[in-house]
Amino acid sequence: MNRIRTFRVFPSWTLCLFLLMGLDALAVEPNPVVLDKVTASTPLKDGIEIRSGLAVMQITALRDDIVRVRAGATGELPEDASWAVLPASRMSSVPVVEDDNATTVGFRTKSLRVEVERATMRVRMTDLDGHVVQETAAGRPIEFHGTSFRIYKDMPASEHFFGLGAKPGPLDRRGGAYSMWNTDAFEFQASTDQIYKSIPFFLSFDRGMVAGTFFDNHWRTSFDFGKESHTAYAFGAENGPLDYYVLYGPSSAQVLQSYVWLTGTTPLPPLWSLGFQQSRFSYYPESRVREIADRLRKDKIPADAIYLDIDYQDHYRPFTVDTKGFPTFDKMIDDLHKQSFHVVAITDLHIAHLPDAGYAPYDTGTAGDHFVKNPDGSVYVGKVWPGPAVFPDFASQSTRAWWGTLYKQFVKAGIDGFWNDMNEPSVFDSPTKTIREDALHVIDEPGFEKRVATHAEMHNVMGLENSRATYEGLLKLDPDVRPFVLTRASYAGGQRYAATWTGDNSSTWDHLRLTTPMLLNLGMSGFSMSGADVGGFIGTPQPDLLTKWIELAAFQPIDRDHTNKGTGDQEVWVHGPAQEAIRRRYIEERYRLMPYLYTAAEEMSRTGMPIIRPLFMEFPDATADRHPIDVDVDAAGEFLFGRDMLVAPAHFPDELDDYTVVLPSVGWYNYWTGEKVSEAATKIKIKPELAVLPIFVREGSIIPVEPLVESTDETPQGPLTLRVYPGRDCKGSVYLDDGKSFAYRRGGFLRMKFTCDEQGRELTVHLGPHTGDYAAWWKNLNVEVYGLTKSPLKVAVDHSDVRLQPSFDKERHVASVVVPDDGRGSDLHIELAK
Ligand code: NOJ
Repeated sequence: MNRIRTFRVFPSWTLCLFLLMGLDALAVEPNPVVLDKVTASTPLKDGIEIRSGLAVMQITALRDDIVRVRAGATGELPEDASWAVLPASRMSSVPVVEDDNATTVGFRTKSLRVEVERATMRVRMTDLDGHVVQETAAGRPIEFHGTSFRIYKDMPASEHFFGLGAKPGPLDRRGGAYSMWNTDAFEFQASTDQIYKSIPFFLSFDRGMVAGTFFDNHWRTSFDFGKESHTAYAFGAENGPLDYYVLYGPSSAQVLQSYVWLTGTTPLPPLWSLGFQQSRFSYYPESRVREIADRLRKDKIPADAIYLDIDYQDHYRPFTVDTKGFPTFDKMIDDLHKQSFHVVAITDLHIAHLPDAGYAPYDTGTAGDHFVKNPDGSVYVGKVWPGPAVFPDFASQSTRAWWGTLYKQFVKAGIDGFWNDMNEPSVFDSPTKTIREDALHVIDEPGFEKRVATHAEMHNVMGLENSRATYEGLLKLDPDVRPFVLTRASYAGGQRYAATWTGDNSSTWDHLRLTTPMLLNLGMSGFSMSGADVGGFIGTPQPDLLTKWIELAAFQPIDRDHTNKGTGDQEVWVHGPAQEAIRRRYIEERYRLMPYLYTAAEEMSRTGMPIIRPLFMEFPDATADRHPIDVDVDAAGEFLFGRDMLVAPAHFPDELDDYTVVLPSVGWYNYWTGEKVSEAATKIKIKPELAVLPIFVREGSIIPVEPLVESTDETPQGPLTLRVYPGRDCKGSVYLDDGKSFAYRRGGFLRMKFTCDEQGRELTVHLGPHTGDYAAWWKNLNVEVYGLTKSPLKVAVDHSDVRLQPSFDKERHVASVVVPDDGRGSDLHIELAK
């Protein structure tokens, strides 16, 4: 394993090729190395080192709740380097207590016990109550076959698996087998395995208790959750390091928090990126872009972004502009800004192969020796959109720095965000649809040994390092503006640099249904800033499908309408005013909910808690036998938008029959009617209606909403509304800042927390003080209390004598009262009628 790892960079590519070929020619399949017996063990300050014959394994504690396992077949541990894990986290350690006995060797941390059976080398991790977190499957020790290896773990019948990025198919990975190889998966379907991103991280959920496993190997890896065996799951790789981390929960929130501690958090996104985004392949020419912008404003469809797909470029050459089609490109951007649009431009990973043509990206890239090479040392050329193209070698920091400079003109012109597409990388004329595996990269990266590596090794991190180069380049060009990068390909940790989308889906009902599990699993893989092409990319959606898709996407983190070249128009207004009115209403609702959504995004950026979540994340004990409620047939397609809102689309959105919504057994309110759902109801029958996406709000929540705006640039006029849904553990919060800069890191934010408490007939709503330096846009708070059938009798502020008369809306089951907010906080005492 890692034969190539020990190579130095040789001055001549030919010599390097010779060495690679020479070793390959000499390679004979060695006998498997089986780690099935502890032959020696050495306690370490932070763990243990074990020998099994020549093989070595190290198990160390990074934190009391995070354990790392590394092994090597030939007595040497793999290189201690990672594209995904933050160096400070990877280098962390905590002291452990040695814990050996006659049959096992191991250690304890403050949360975990690690035991390795002397006779079998079976590794068992338990929590301090003895619950098994993870255990090597009996009789399935680790085996190395040459450079490949596989790890087997026990899989109780009650265990379920989530994560692995955006792999299509069911939410629960149990029963499936998956492999990781970034692929331009045009026309992917539910059964497609290899897809754009490789995120070898999964959560295992067993009777309410959750652990995470991150297998930090970016070669081709594979995972099997019950296809090969009903009692064991497995993961392995064809090459590269045996290096994985076990993250103890027991809550899924804790596991995700640990995962982002390891691999980094999503930066707080610019506010506009949470608005509605309009795209297509491609709006062309410039006049069409302007037309779309005008129509969005004319029809009062709230919107924040317009995308420029590849046709804005001269012959599809990245970092150029087709000045015939876009004669006043810079002015167009200015004008779009004046209409409060942000502009996102595509810049694919490849560079057109154009020697001696005055194409600066090619010329400067060649001068800097920045392109991936063939084994013979010549530059690798493959066909993509511009025709012959070359591929920057993002494994090298100097290449990334050079790439970052290519954005200078576009940033100067005011382009607000960049879209890194085709970065698996996709190659049209190669039999494998990507760069040949024996192509050569140079790893020149702090923390790594400087060396030549094959594309087989670097393939899965190209998208990650491409989006990193873009993100870091943009930060350099404009250090106080939050970059917005949208990437198609990535690897674990890619959330540090870019949002993502699920790629080329189709305009079918089935694909609408697929978006929810894909986005939920992405969120549980660190990528919460994600969306699917609204309306579907391939094909033209029929009217009801587009409407239903727009409804659903209003409650997904990225809301971008996008479609392929040659398909019918897919903007909100197609199909006439009646459909448009429904679609507009949902986009408007998203904008009203922007304070809630942005607050959830801020939480995500701090804690890794995804914006949309499966129900089990908030309700791990929702079922009697403690299986995740989401895997129940009746709960299919449900998800939580933030902590408090449960979105319940039809299980099969094209079917007209009634369907059942399952509610975890706390109290719920109907979001649209304001009515309290009967306490006893855990299942509700819904009659599907085109204009209604059923949504329920958990009791005990306080949801901040704002007056409608046409874009996030606009300052809302009027009070901030707090929708109070009384019940146990009642709380909410709002987070606000300038939405664009990093001033929030210097105190430029505003946070308010709210609680409510019902005692007898008095409901107290506590409105917390403002913290942070950012000034609120509101002067008053409009407090709405839901679930009421009668008007409250009176409202007092801070026990003062002033009595406010609430207004009452019987239809919406809501009483509201407006109170001033001077930032110091206050309590409202609301006397409810019997
Ligand atoms: C492939 C992307 O997935 C799609 O979204 C884009 O429109 C086309 N490339 C053209 O750039």
